Amino acid sequence: MSQESLTVTDNRTGKTYELPITDGTIRTMDLRQIKVDDQDFGVMGYDTAFKNTAATRSKITFIDGAKGILRHRGYPVEQLAANASFLEVAYLVLFGELPNAEQYAQWEHDIVHHTLVHENLRTFLDGFRYDAHPMGILISSIAALSTFYPEAKNVFDPESVELQTRRLVAKMPTMAAFAYRHSMGFPYVYPDNDLSYVGNFLNMMFKMTELKYKPNPIVERALEILWILHIDHEQNCSTTTMRGIGSSQADPYVAVAGAAAALSGPLHGGANERVLRMLAHIGSVENIPAYLKRVEAGEERLMGFGHRVYKNYDPRARIIKDFAHQLFEVTGRTPMLNIALELEERALNEDYFAKRKLYPNVDFYSGIIYQALGIPTNMFTVMFAIPRTVGWLAQWRELLGDPEQKIARPRQIYDGIMLRDFVPMTERS
Ligand code: ACO
Repeated sequence: MSQESLTVTDNRTGKTYELPITDGTIRTMDLRQIKVDDQDFGVMGYDTAFKNTAATRSKITFIDGAKGILRHRGYPVEQLAANASFLEVAYLVLFGELPNAEQYAQWEHDIVHHTLVHENLRTFLDGFRYDAHPMGILISSIAALSTFYPEAKNVFDPESVELQTRRLVAKMPTMAAFAYRHSMGFPYVYPDNDLSYVGNFLNMMFKMTELKYKPNPIVERALEILWILHIDHEQNCSTTTMRGIGSSQADPYVAVAGAAAALSGPLHGGANERVLRMLAHIGSVENIPAYLKRVEAGEERLMGFGHRVYKNYDPRARIIKDFAHQLFEVTGRTPMLNIALELEERALNEDYFAKRKLYPNVDFYSGIIYQALGIPTNMFTVMFAIPRTVGWLAQWRELLGDPEQKIARPRQIYDGIMLRDFVPMTERS
């Protein structure tokens, strides 16, 4: 009997089975041989929310949640955030290696030359109400892009995959900024190819009547770091959505739109918006103990705390917190930061959080930084969707090249009425 195996005895039949263990994992399909008789479907795994189910092999991102480690393609996120540009990390995540100077120049050129969107997209945006949430606008306009590029449906054509990858990475900041400008009633600002990827986004967001927009370098770098930290996070809710939609061989625009929709929820990318609302609701440092009591009584959630994978400090939260101190030296400290710092310290000293291993996640501080950068709260999820598009695309490309992947289609345990005869309406009680 192999040492790398699991022996299972089915007490219903007394039969014993040997299931191979590879990479600390059994294949749940191996459970199907465990049957009471020939008619039996076989044993399944029941795992709502995929708490203990690996749905793929991946070479993109490594997380050790217990130790608080995050690496992309083997590089610690701390090193990438300290040394690289956003487009450099995007190249790494998408293609597996850091680019050399020539590859980087080509990549940057490709992205810059795809930042414009079709003019019809502007007409499309005009259909939204003046007070439409920018995330709703963004999700719909990404899906609409699919109709502009019908060749994107050829998901196994390598040339098309490369082109759509570049288009999506390049156009996300443009569409995000347009969504914001629409919600403000401001005129749209076209991309400026002289600026960096991040600087150009700031230009499209904030340029008013000046002839040339010059981004503040500290603001530009702060945003770049935030975007590097949000670039990928393995099989989270939105990435799983991207892979789920991608598994049906739908085109990448509708798949990214679906992933962005998953990201918009308050338990995922919407959390930093909620963090700021929570901090505003707490209002001052004196109100923290009462708020924590309500959290411990189950009446509230401490937004920006807790994570499905990290049972330690989220390394991204640490980088943001450290950087926040530098940034606030320039922009000045906001009352929100004081409340957040105090809230974090008090929560970490409470038994409730220690017992459940609840630590700050990336969203605890990201909203405060976005606010200091002048980004309105309703744009926070949009700010997350821009860099995460790189991760979604990297995961989608990996999925397409994985011969083991098939259309995603979980099983269920049917809990309803098994069979009954139709009753005409006149006879129904
Ligand atoms: N505040 C208070 N209690 C919490 C929190 C929180 N933020 N998070 C978890 N708990 C408690 C739960 O009530 C539960 O307690 P119990 O065992 O007494 O019932 C226990 O901790 C385990 O929590 P689950 O909800 O089972 O953990 P899960 O892994 O399903 O949830 C999640 C993870 C959704 C992130 C959760 O921690 C949460 O809601 N946090 C707040 C929202 C947030 O910050 N989301 C951003 C995540 S990071 C990202 O998406 C980029």
